[in-house]
Amino acid sequence: MDSVVQLVNRLQSVATKLGDNAATAKDGGLPSLWDLLPSIVVIGGQSSGKSSVLEAVVGRDFLPRGTGIVTRRPLVMQLVHLEDPAAREYGEFLHNNRQKLYDFAQIRDEIEAETNRFLAGKGRAVAPDPIQLTIYSPSVPNLTLVDMPGLTKVPIDGQPRSIVKELDDMARTYIKGDNAIILAVTPANADLATSDALHMAREVDPAGDRTIGVLTKLDIMDPGTDARDILEGSAVKLKHGWIGVVNRGQKDINQKVPMGEARSRELEFFRGNSSYRDLKNIGTGFLSVKLSNHLIGAIRKQLPVITHSINEGIVNLEKELESMGGSQVATRGGMLHLVLQLCRQFEDAFAKCVDGGKNGGEVILTVFERRLTDNIRALDFHKILDPSNVRRIVEEADGYQPHLIAPEMGYRRLLQECLILFKGPAEIAVDEVHAILRKIVALTLQSDDCKGMVQFTHLQRDIARVASEALDVMRLDAKKMVATMVEMERSYLTAEVFKEILQADGRQEGHGGELIRTLSGRQVNDYIDEGTPADRHLRKIAIHVSAYITHVRTQLKQTIPKAIVHTLVLQSKKKLLEKLHAEVANSDDAQLKRILSEDEGTLKRRDQLLGRLKLLKSASEEIATVSFV
Ligand SMILES: *[C@@H]1O[C@H](CO)[C@@H](O)[C@H](O)[C@H]1NC(C)=O
Ligand SMILES: *[C@@H]1O[C@H](CO)[C@@H](O)[C@H](O)[C@H]1NC(C)=O
Repeated sequence: MDSVVQLVNRLQSVATKLGDNAATAKDGGLPSLWDLLPSIVVIGGQSSGKSSVLEAVVGRDFLPRGTGIVTRRPLVMQLVHLEDPAAREYGEFLHNNRQKLYDFAQIRDEIEAETNRFLAGKGRAVAPDPIQLTIYSPSVPNLTLVDMPGLTKVPIDGQPRSIVKELDDMARTYIKGDNAIILAVTPANADLATSDALHMAREVDPAGDRTIGVLTKLDIMDPGTDARDILEGSAVKLKHGWIGVVNRGQKDINQKVPMGEARSRELEFFRGNSSYRDLKNIGTGFLSVKLSNHLIGAIRKQLPVITHSINEGIVNLEKELESMGGSQVATRGGMLHLVLQLCRQFEDAFAKCVDGGKNGGEVILTVFERRLTDNIRALDFHKILDPSNVRRIVEEADGYQPHLIAPEMGYRRLLQECLILFKGPAEIAVDEVHAILRKIVALTLQSDDCKGMVQFTHLQRDIARVASEALDVMRLDAKKMVATMVEMERSYLTAEVFKEILQADGRQEGHGGELIRTLSGRQVNDYIDEGTPADRHLRKIAIHVSAYITHVRTQLKQTIPKAIVHTLVLQSKKKLLEKLHAEVANSDDAQLKRILSEDEGTLKRRDQLLGRLKLLKSASEEIATVSFV
């Protein structure tokens, strides 16, 4: 039972129907069924007798004949042997809804018509997309053959030069796969060295593991020469050997010599020729059986691989499809729901990242705990608190005064000049947190949490845009807030703190009381009392100002982060997509469709994946219906 051939036939049909063939096999890295199926691909030059060989195998005339390039597309020919010797023969085309054609002349016409239909549509002279024909007959072996357009060295039939290469490339595409068995048809009445078929087979299969040679036209060799040395394998060695055939010549075809008669003439020729009489590898009958057995062997060997690859392919395709998201929704309610749901997913994921996570919360904390502190520490108050500057400001503000009187206006001016410096680090902190939040937006869009919108590039862009605009607004708010906080410190100086500073300054060392320190970390009363009274007076003013700034610095280090969290971080968690929600709610159907539209690449890819998945699934079902013994 070689129901395996029928299985491969069915798999091949499924593959052809769904656009998986030798020419498309490697498209987009999709798993190909075609590539896995063993097939016998027939190649040969334009006048090699290739068509006659195929017709002899089938026992029927059904291939378009004529001068020039007649076969313009590959023909996948599936032969199914019918057990009942009286059964009627017929053919079916895949493109034709498997309508049964009992008239082989009609089959020939249909091959031509379908070829023209397809090529005219594509505006091409030849195309690698196969036509699929199944022939049921009691006189055929179970066999599948792929007939390629004949090779040529020069353009014929008024075709452009490029046709030579096109035909060459096409044949190569079909025979290059490891599962292709190459049937290289070569006429015996020409030099083997010039055989197009043999030449190409050698190129793709140098070891000859997959090549079978067919020698045609043995009957019209030059008188006195024969091809015994080739058929015996001593002239040109092929691992799977040569088969000699004698088919109808052009004259026989013109005279419509019946196929049965041609077969008996072939037998007569070999029997009556002492060069070939004792050889086994001769005759169309032998060719049929040999090919059939060869194919069955190849299929049996390949079946476990086919089954495994199909299952693996299904898993991979489903994975990729899942990663692209489900299929599209069409109703307004459905679209609205989907957009809002995706927005919510984004917002949740964003908030989650902001609250914790290596790229989120932790980085923000670093800004507050490290960067802000460092920047504040790096502020340069020295220039302001330098004695000569202190003198200048005090004198400008209060005029010259006896040094024991506290120069109120001078203090005020000095403090204000110092305090304004805090604005810098505060604003930098805002900018840094803002940058982190922007990055979180981008990371969130690419995260697993948002993989549901991976195909909705428009929505992603909308989210990125609205989030970015919202963050910009929040940044402005945050900057205003921290600036206000610094301004508040400048506009109201706490007398209480001054009192404490003065008290601490007046205390003897080791007499308790709260420790009050200056910017350099020393206690306020820890200084050498030297120089002129005026010098000491100015120095004291500087120390007092420094102690006050130290006090404010401690406070701002705590309140600036609070302000940034309040105006920027928390707001971003709450209101990042607020505007988008409003936009979406006011969108009409067309706008919603736009938001949910996928880019062309995604659409195309999904179609491809779905098509291929369908192919592999039906293949898997086909295989399940067959039991292998
Ligand atoms: C050819 O295949 C058919 C259908 O699977 C099967 O019934 C038949 O036995 C096979 N014929 C030969 C000659 O092996
Ligand atoms: C046998 O065939 C060869 C060509 O293949 C031919 O040259 C030769 O004359 C034939 N011999 C006879 C006896 O027909």
